[in-house]
Amino acid sequence: MQAGEASELVNRQPNRFAQQLFDGLPARYDRLADALSLGQDRRWRRAMVDAVVAAAPRSVLDVATGPAGVALQLAARTSARVTGLDLTAQMLRAGAANVAHSPHAGRVDLLLARAEQLPFPDATFDALTFTYLLRYVAAPATTLKELVRVVKPGGTIASLEFHVPGGQVWYPLWWLYTRFLLPAAGFVLGGREWFEVGRFLGPSISAHYQRYPVLWHEDAWRQAGVEAVNTRLMSVGGGLVMWGRKRPSAPGAGTASESAEFSDVRAGAGHV
Ligand SMILES: C[S@@+](CC[C@H](N)C(=O)[O-])C[C@H]1O[C@@H](n2cnc3c(N)ncnc32)[C@H](O)[C@@H]1O
Repeated sequence: MQAGEASELVNRQPNRFAQQLFDGLPARYDRLADALSLGQDRRWRRAMVDAVVAAAPRSVLDVATGPAGVALQLAARTSARVTGLDLTAQMLRAGAANVAHSPHAGRVDLLLARAEQLPFPDATFDALTFTYLLRYVAAPATTLKELVRVVKPGGTIASLEFHVPGGQVWYPLWWLYTRFLLPAAGFVLGGREWFEVGRFLGPSISAHYQRYPVLWHEDAWRQAGVEAVNTRLMSVGGGLVMWGRKRPSAPGAGTASESAEFSDVRAGAGHV
């Protein structure tokens, strides 16, 4: 897919785009994601999970769970029952294999569904995490409301996303890394599919924060019903971890009618 086509599809049909992008990645996803983030992704994940561990939840929903790396860390570091949810069946298949090999398999379920329309009643979970999700949805603020809807009042919500480093040294280095080195390293380590991801990632991150700066995210979390919103930029600004608590008075229901483009995914929602 050409870069222009990718940005057109991600805007027009984000669910379909995400499925196409992630369908070919699961085989060595965790190792390559770690290598291509220069080892930083594991620090960021840990910082995000720290916010949840502190609240000692009994149930956690991990949205955009992919191969279940975060879901398994949540299970390892809490005594909670963890549900991992993702849009891409191939990612969940890799997740199911990872879960099966884990000592925490009995406490982790995986589910095929979309973040924009969660198949759970209001206030189901004690905590919720989501990683690298909002760049792949058409309406981030509405999706946030839907995520918050399924968390119990007082429950913890935590997220992780890439970010754009600032400053005269780190920004140019980050730009060169994401525009040239990342696609090349992706190709060398993972072949064509990882080249595509590497090529997509830098412009996607830049475009996301041009449209939705960090202050926008903080405000969107509050509007969605989250209080005590914390923001932590890590690794000279390359990673953004956020966390907060659902307000007792937050509205219970979100809007789940943004797009009808993925009725097949919704209809196919089910356990893996
Ligand atoms: C970069 S991967 C991250 C996977 C995992 N969270 C991790 O950190 O290893 C992004 C994941 O988001 C999923 N995704 C994208 N859009 C989604 C949506 N609307 N609902 C649920 N999952 C989605 C993709 O299928 C993919 O598995």
